[in-house]
Amino acid sequence: MPIQVVILAAGQGKRMHSALPKVMHSLAGIPLLQHVLATALAVKSTTQPIVVYGHEGERLQHAFAHYDLKWVEQKIQKGTGHALLQAMPLIHEDDQVLVLYGDVPLITLPTLQELITRTKNKDIGILTANLIDPKGYGRIKRNEKEEVTAIIEEKDANTNEQTIKEVNSGIYLLPAAFLKKYLPGLTAHNAQQEYYLTDVIPFAVQERLAIHTIHAAYPEEIQGVNDRQQLMQLERFYQRRYAEKLMAEGVTLYDANRFDVRGEAIVGKDVTIDINVLLEGRVVIGNHCVIGPNVVLRNTILQEGVKVLAHSIIDGAEIGRDCQIGPFARIRPGTVLRDRVHIGNFVEIKNSQVGEKTKINHLSYIGDSEIGKEVNVGAGTITCNYDGINKHKTIIHDYVFIGSATQLVAPLVVGEGATIGAGSTLTKDAPPHQLTLSRTAQQSIAGWQRSRKQEKDRV
Ligand code: UD1
Ligand code: CA
Repeated sequence: MPIQVVILAAGQGKRMHSALPKVMHSLAGIPLLQHVLATALAVKSTTQPIVVYGHEGERLQHAFAHYDLKWVEQKIQKGTGHALLQAMPLIHEDDQVLVLYGDVPLITLPTLQELITRTKNKDIGILTANLIDPKGYGRIKRNEKEEVTAIIEEKDANTNEQTIKEVNSGIYLLPAAFLKKYLPGLTAHNAQQEYYLTDVIPFAVQERLAIHTIHAAYPEEIQGVNDRQQLMQLERFYQRRYAEKLMAEGVTLYDANRFDVRGEAIVGKDVTIDINVLLEGRVVIGNHCVIGPNVVLRNTILQEGVKVLAHSIIDGAEIGRDCQIGPFARIRPGTVLRDRVHIGNFVEIKNSQVGEKTKINHLSYIGDSEIGKEVNVGAGTITCNYDGINKHKTIIHDYVFIGSATQLVAPLVVGEGATIGAGSTLTKDAPPHQLTLSRTAQQSIAGWQRSRKQEKDRV
């Protein structure tokens, strides 16, 4: 049976108090609408999903330009029934319409699949949930035979109806022919003076369509985001579940409440993750890695046995086996560290390759460089890679020893086994296996005396 997904996303989101369209607000680093789209596109046998938008259409279409979607404008927000009506001209008679909300981000594929399989050809399926606190939701009304007869919005419900705990998620599967017949005739005689999509249910009863209700696996699946408090609650729920999934796979988290993933984390066995760790984009962490507190890893691969010490940031890098990084290290995009490299405190590395067992342990900037194996880069070494217009490359071959506080003015090659004297400023290549230094000879002036004033200040 062909399924047409329609995502209602025209609501203004007033309670967000934001210049950003509501569905563009992030959950786990991804816009709300993108969560829904990812799930919608995974539903089998769907054509392009239709998104009903209201505000900032251009902004939305620009943000989701890489998705294969149809966009329909709802110029004035007159309710969910009116919103769906705008999409109907694009929908085929024979389709079943799967209605999703742009601000209900955590709906899952298995639940939608359950809704689809349980709803036969021309039946109606409604995703519902029994909530301890049903406040704010439409309530599912049933007759004495437990058949659904209507959905009553909270604002229209009498005190008796308000005690009903079974709520409408707003996610349904409905036959297009039925919607085409009844949506245009909806009225807005209700508390909110809106055209309610929920008002089609009595017509379904009248037409003797079977109405199935399917429960969401957990209540957060159907929870909408109306304000920033709810956004935060769903964020915490999402993060908690992600943490639980990783723990179930063999990851030790010192505190699941102080661990966040904004993207995809692929984590090996026996990995230990300390508090306040943030993983962003696509992060791969090999077996036996140890991640210290307050570490940010973004779009990075750590091979097995890597230790990342406290307060380090690694972005867009590939880190070889048994490397040790930090504390307070910053590894930037384009960096590749081979196995057993040591990067110490206050070291920044950008767009550079570093060979096996090389050590860069203190206070250095390495940019646009190729460094060989077993090189020792002394404290305070700087690659001067930028002349104000262009970036230049520094090449350091295997077994080099660079003395502390050295500046390497690129482009520059340091030959294999070379030693660079501490405090040098190199502007030319250094030959292999020699000592190269560039500093003025040290001198001492006999009989020199400090001025009196200086002496006085010291007392
Ligand atoms: C709706 C349901 C309610 C259900 C709840 C679940 C109706 C009448 N009520 O109520 O039974 O329990 O969702 O969250 O359907 N939208 C538009 N255009 C509009 C109005 C809304 O596109 O004119 C979109 C919104 O962007 C949102 C969704 O429809 O994604 C729901 O709208 P909202 O106003 O939040 O509906 P509720 O009053 O919460
Ligand atoms: Ca809502």
